[in-house]
Amino acid sequence: MNRERSLSPSATPDQHRPDAPVTESSNPSLSSPSVSIPGLEGVAYGGDYNPEQWPREVWREDVRLMREAGVNMVSIGMWSWAKLEPREGEFDTEWLDELLDLLHGAGIRVDLATPTAAPPAWFFRTYPQARVVDREQRALGPGSRGMACPSSPDYRAACARITRMLGERYGSHPAVAMWHVHNEYGAPVGESFSSAAHEHFRAWVKTRYGSLEGVNEAWGTAFWGQTLARWDEVLPPIPTPSVANPSRELDWRRFSNQAILECYLAERDILHELSPGIPVTTNFMAHTCPNMDLWRWAREVDIVSNDHYLIASDPRNFVELAMDADLTRSLAGGDPWLLLEHSTSGVNWQERNVAKEPGEMARNSLSHLARGADGIMFFQWRASKKGAEKFHSAMLPHAGATSRVFREVCELGATLQDLAPVRGSRVRADIAILYDWESQWAQDLPWRPSADLGHRAQTQTWYERLWSDHLPTDFVHPEADLSGYRVVLAPASYLLTDAAAANLERFVHGGGQLVVGPFSGVVDECDGVRDGGLNAALAGLLGVAVEEFCPLRAEETARITTSAGEVLEAQVWTEGLVVRDAEVLGRYADGRLDEGAALTRAARGDGHAWYLASDLSVEDLRAVFTDVYAHAGLTVPELPADVELLERAEADGTRHLFAINHTGQSHELQVGAGQTLHVAAGAVAHLEVATSAPKA
Ligand code: GAL
Repeated sequence: MNRERSLSPSATPDQHRPDAPVTESSNPSLSSPSVSIPGLEGVAYGGDYNPEQWPREVWREDVRLMREAGVNMVSIGMWSWAKLEPREGEFDTEWLDELLDLLHGAGIRVDLATPTAAPPAWFFRTYPQARVVDREQRALGPGSRGMACPSSPDYRAACARITRMLGERYGSHPAVAMWHVHNEYGAPVGESFSSAAHEHFRAWVKTRYGSLEGVNEAWGTAFWGQTLARWDEVLPPIPTPSVANPSRELDWRRFSNQAILECYLAERDILHELSPGIPVTTNFMAHTCPNMDLWRWAREVDIVSNDHYLIASDPRNFVELAMDADLTRSLAGGDPWLLLEHSTSGVNWQERNVAKEPGEMARNSLSHLARGADGIMFFQWRASKKGAEKFHSAMLPHAGATSRVFREVCELGATLQDLAPVRGSRVRADIAILYDWESQWAQDLPWRPSADLGHRAQTQTWYERLWSDHLPTDFVHPEADLSGYRVVLAPASYLLTDAAAANLERFVHGGGQLVVGPFSGVVDECDGVRDGGLNAALAGLLGVAVEEFCPLRAEETARITTSAGEVLEAQVWTEGLVVRDAEVLGRYADGRLDEGAALTRAARGDGHAWYLASDLSVEDLRAVFTDVYAHAGLTVPELPADVELLERAEADGTRHLFAINHTGQSHELQVGAGQTLHVAAGAVAHLEVATSAPKA
């Protein structure tokens, strides 16, 4: 029997890489990819809870209201270091003991954080050399948050001590269901230029290249006479009179990622040792924090978790939400993941912090759930009275338990309780987009042919075309196994390794449709242009060599006519191509490249390699992708614009369909076998389609 339900009662109808060996988890009991949270039955629901800001009477009120809202897990301790260790080496845990007992007594599971994102004042007083030093060589003081310098031995020692204390004391506490290491590594601190970091970077460079000759070669120091003769001449990219060496900058990004990852690994390993069986996570910002290479991070966490905040100024911000959620699921290798933070309404750190409309919070939450999240959590439970975030929305806002937001929080809690069976089910996609942080770092460095062809915009535009065509999408590292996909898109693969190029070739020969975007396959891992032209890594596969980059002036566009008679418009970028062994499907129709090839397709093995040498709008990409879908045997579902129909499937074949309506009208969707699903304006509907054998 199929069950259909509308899930957003408050939305009133008219309102509207894998390039290094994968390390095994250091906790043997958690080495399976799919980890559950001990003691948590349904979908995780709750948020960051910061009880150190409140007297104990308020804690009791909090727990009562959490139960009313259906909260079953809270994240605590992120900002508690000063309270837990008021003086170096002296711990005060009495308050945390009481709090954990209180939560446990109420059946609320605890995601216990290590507080290492906010060292106490005594730490900075005692170890001023551990402060983060920014690129301009300013040491950043306390009085805010953000870690100390990740390379600082003093900071690392202090982190290990507080983590060990927490692990020893609470490692087998019955309230603790998960460990939350630190908070959002990579932001606000993604790099530090302290003297410890100088040494650390030098050691990293030595390990990577072995010799100064190797460094000079990798960084191309013959250019502008930058040759390094001694190891103490190897410096981080501190300010320089003109633009700095891009290869060094790229390595600096790699190093900074690694230095911060080492901090995480040290804490994780302590927790695995002292708290066996309890999963460890750290909250990512998959799409919003470009500093961290999350393919590397994802294999080190027991459960992937993510924080997402809407971009208030973007009226179609639900598309970016979808992309972030798809990217997070992909980081989790398709396993369920947790949304560890989002907001019930407006945030406080954008220029104009738009409050969410009634129903929007549920729509956002269920969009994450429908894309594979098994937990929906917020920043934060109770709005802070003081401090930098007092105007940020919360589950329990300043207006209290009679407010609209709290009502919707309770409704969402009830909805998620009903959706418990969805937990563990998976999303399937036939299309994947290549995503590589290293390529993003390299592409976005200064002194490129056009500052307006950015990795993020290119990727998001291509993603939005797929989103508009209602086709589920994964993201993959360019060296990952692509054999499960029919279509692979490479919108922004500026840096491509030899292994990645070979991987793409295998994919196409095996029958895949590969679509490559402009400015791709240009450099190797050292940001060096390859021998053989501007796209040498892909020229053979594409049957097309890029002879010249021809970016457009601001306000200038270039027309492209396709063999099907459509007229498209390049916005920022064109390229002079030499077609060697490919069919030309589109040509420039004006400008300096008039009549030159702009869109090509090469038949290779059982598949095709397509090349689009210009950036196109979401609308114009339709003409290109429609043809690609046809070659891949994919059909665009007939659905209204801005209405999503998403599916999660259980192992026994039970399907969970979610209709998410971002429009102001209600819709009836055909969902197969003559069935329709009604979704009200601004609402979400869920349909459980059982296998032939009905579920108990
Ligand atoms: C997150 C952070 C939270 C809170 C939130 C506000 O990035 O992890 O602690 O600051 O932003 O939106």
